Amino acid sequence: MRALDRDVIGQAHRPRGAAGRVTAWEMALRPSNRQRNHWVVELLGVRPADRVLEVGFGPGVAIAALARAGAAHVCGVEHSEVMLRHAAKRNAAAIRAGRVTLVRASAVQLPAAVDGPFDVILAVNALGFWPAPAERLADLGRRLADGGRIAIVSQPRCPGATASTSRQAAAEIEKQMVEAGLTPVGTETLPLDPPAVCVLATR
Ligand SMILES: C[S@@+](CC[C@H](N)C(=O)[O-])C[C@H]1O[C@@H](n2cnc3c(N)ncnc32)[C@H](O)[C@@H]1O
Repeated sequence: MRALDRDVIGQAHRPRGAAGRVTAWEMALRPSNRQRNHWVVELLGVRPADRVLEVGFGPGVAIAALARAGAAHVCGVEHSEVMLRHAAKRNAAAIRAGRVTLVRASAVQLPAAVDGPFDVILAVNALGFWPAPAERLADLGRRLADGGRIAIVSQPRCPGATASTSRQAAAEIEKQMVEAGLTPVGTETLPLDPPAVCVLATR
C-alpha cells in the first residue's frame, strides 16, 4: 500500500492534527457525504420523543440533521478529538440547549453516559473501522429500547468501488447484524457513485 493511501485511510480512521482538521472540513463539505448523512436521517423518520445515538459522527452532519428533525435528544460518540471539536462547533446551539451531547470515546468501550436506552442508533461509514464489528453491534443492540431501530450506512470509499461493492458491503453488514443477534428488516440504497447502502435492523 502506498504511503499516501495509508495516510488517507489513517485520517478517516481517526483524524488528528492539521491533516485531521482538513479531513474534517472535506468530510463536512463533500456533497456525497452530506447527501448520505441527510438521507439516513430522513429514512429513520425521527419522532419528537426519540432518543438517538450516533457512533463515529465525524464532522457531525447527521447529528445536526437529527437535532433539526426534532429528536428529543441526540447523543454522539466519536474517538477523534479533532472531529469532536469540529462537530461541537457545528452543533453549538443544540448543545447549549441540552438537545445534543457529544462524547469523546471509542465504540470499543462505550461509557456509562451512553447506556441508553435509545430509540434509534446509527453509524455512517464508521462500522468498517471498528474491531470485531459483530461484537460492537451486539453491544449497541443492548442499548436499544423496545421497538428501537438501528441503521448502519456504508458508502464504500476504496478505489474502484462500484454498485457491486456497495451490495457486498450491505450483505456483510447484514451478516454481522445476524451474528450480533439483531434482526435485519431491510436495506435501502441511495444512488450515489458508488451507491450508499443503509441496513436497518431491530433487536
Ligand atoms: C469515514 S468517517 C465518517 C464520519 C461521519 N459518520 C460521516 O459520514 O460524515 C469515520 C469516523 O468514525 C470515527 N471512528 C472510527 N473508529 C471509531 C471508534 N472505534 N470509535 C469512535 N469513533 C470511531 C472516525 O474518527 C471518523 O470520524
